[in-house]
Order: sequence, then C-alpha cells, then structure tokens
Amino acid sequence: MQKEIVVSGIRSTGNLHLGNYFGAIRNFIKMQHEYKCFFFIADYHSLTTHPVPADLHNNVKQVLVEYLACGLDPEISTLYVQSDLPETAELYLLLNMNAYVGELERCTSFKDKIRQQPDNINAGLLTYPTLMAADILIHRALKVPVGKDQEQHLEMARQFGNRFNRLYQIELFPEPYAFNYGTNLVKIPGLDGSGKMGKSEGEGNAIFLADSPEAIRKKVMRAVTDSGPTQENQTKPEVIENIFTLMKAVSTDETVRYFDEQYNGMKIRYGDLKKQLAEDMILFTAPFREKILELSKDELFIQKIARQGAEKARESGAATVREARKAIGIRSF
Ligand code: TRP
Repeated sequence: MQKEIVVSGIRSTGNLHLGNYFGAIRNFIKMQHEYKCFFFIADYHSLTTHPVPADLHNNVKQVLVEYLACGLDPEISTLYVQSDLPETAELYLLLNMNAYVGELERCTSFKDKIRQQPDNINAGLLTYPTLMAADILIHRALKVPVGKDQEQHLEMARQFGNRFNRLYQIELFPEPYAFNYGTNLVKIPGLDGSGKMGKSEGEGNAIFLADSPEAIRKKVMRAVTDSGPTQENQTKPEVIENIFTLMKAVSTDETVRYFDEQYNGMKIRYGDLKKQLAEDMILFTAPFREKILELSKDELFIQKIARQGAEKARESGAATVREARKAIGIRSF
C-alpha cells in the first residue's frame, strides 16, 4: 500500500533546543517509518524578514546538520532545502494568481507581522500562506505535522488547492490537514520561569542541543526558583514544577523520585537539584552535540545529503508542477 504523504517545513533560523526535540522532532523521527515524509528547510520563507545574505547559508547548514544529528534519516525521508526545489517558486506564482489580497490580508500571521516589522511590509509577507501552500501541495501531501499556530495557513492551503481544482476542473491537489502524530508531545518549560522553552523568550531560557557543558551549567544554575517549600507535601508552585518537568525529561526515575521526596520532606536544596539537572542535561545532549560537531565538519557529506534530498524532492515536485502547467494551458512550443 502507498504510504500517506507528510510534508513539513522547518524554519531555517534558530538552533534546536530541548523543547523542539521533545516537541516535534522526536515525532518526526518516528513518523518517517510510517509515512512518506518530505521535510524541508524553509529558506525562501526566511526572506520575508530579510536576513543577512552572509548568514543564510550557514543557518540552513546548521539546521540540516541538527536534524540529521537528531536521527532524521535521509535514506528514508526526503530532507531538502526549499530553494533546491525551485518548482516551489513556480507553483507559488501560479497559486498567487488565484489568491485574493483580501483573504491574505485577513490572515492572523500577516497582521502580527505588520505589527512586528512595520518598516518592511513586503509582498512576501502577504503571500507567505501561498508559498506555504505551494510547499505542501507540490508533493500532494495529506498530512502536515504542525501546531495550532499554523492551522489558518493549512486552511488556506486547502482553499488554494480546492480553488485550483475547481477552476481548472482537475483533481490535482488533495486536502492537507494538520496532524498530531502520537500523543506523547511533551511540553518543555523554559528556565526563566516562563511556561515554554523557546529561543525568543530571552537569553538563558533554552538549552540548545549544541550547547557546551559549561553553557548548560551556567543556564541551569540561573534557572528561576522560589524560596522553598513551607509545608510538607505541598503542591509545587509553577516555577518548581517546571524544574521537575525538565528533570523528568532528562533524568532517571530514581533521581526524580529522590528530589521529589526531598521536596515533600522540605529538605530540598535547590542548588543540588540544579546541579543534578545540569549534569543530566549534559549527558542527555552530549550525543547530539557530538554528532552536530562531527557532521558540521563533513562538508562532503552535507553536500551529498542536500543534493540527494533535492533530487528526490524534484522527482515529486516537478511532476506536480508539470500537471499544474498543463491544467492552466501553459504549453511549450
Ligand atoms: N510556517 C511554518 C512555521 O512557521 C513553516 C513552514 C513553511 C511550513 N512551509 C511549510 C510548515 C509547509 C509545514 C508545511 O513553522
């Protein structure tokens, strides 16, 4: 039986942190065995915020290396760079002809962006959903493993795909839906007492897979706590619960139980708790970090993986764009 097609875009900026790992990535690694997966690094999309050209390539490389280090298998999945499938840009252009400015302007992410960068309200921002629709529709994907914040974009991808099918009386694009693989998405809190680990939440909030042991120790020792329990067996306040959630992710059950008992008996010393957490995070991230460092140095391997990904992506994408051109009436002489 033909496996269902999954597409997901990965932002090309930002190193991976433990929150990403326990969130989407661990699931990507598992789902690649069950579905026909296309994962790509969304470098075209990053141009909507105008990054520095000198950084672009290195960002893409870093993200590629980090996903490989996490266990994304380029032999099973198709892992490619968005701009290595330029047919995406053609499909984006074709879809834009039937995307209406009104519906694009109503998109929440566009409204957020114009508030965030009022001096750079470019057309790429407005048509971000069309580009994302092209990414998905180009492989005729059914499933897109993204969170709630991308729901509206998916709705637009369905809208654009259906509109195309209707206009040209063709059954080219199936309807893609957001997809929650597995039920074990663990939400990883940040170290600053905020509920979520994220790089935009401020320095020191996130533990990156590529962080050095010293960096991890420093961040963990600065993690926000309180002045300690005032009653035996009390409910933990959120900041403390967060530390325990992090510990549950990286430490052994025995360690978690030990500190839990210390807390319940009001004997806990947060310094010890943090020291242990830091060491366990170092142990947990070490294999990833080593792999990241090793792969980063192997330019030839990276090149091979990127080229192989591009080839597989074009096999799938070029066929779709050929059909789309034909449906529209574009013909070569
Ligand atoms: N918009 C997505 C994000 O911000 C990234 C993305 C671009 C994407 N194209 C996609 C995700 C296609 C899924 C499918 O995270």
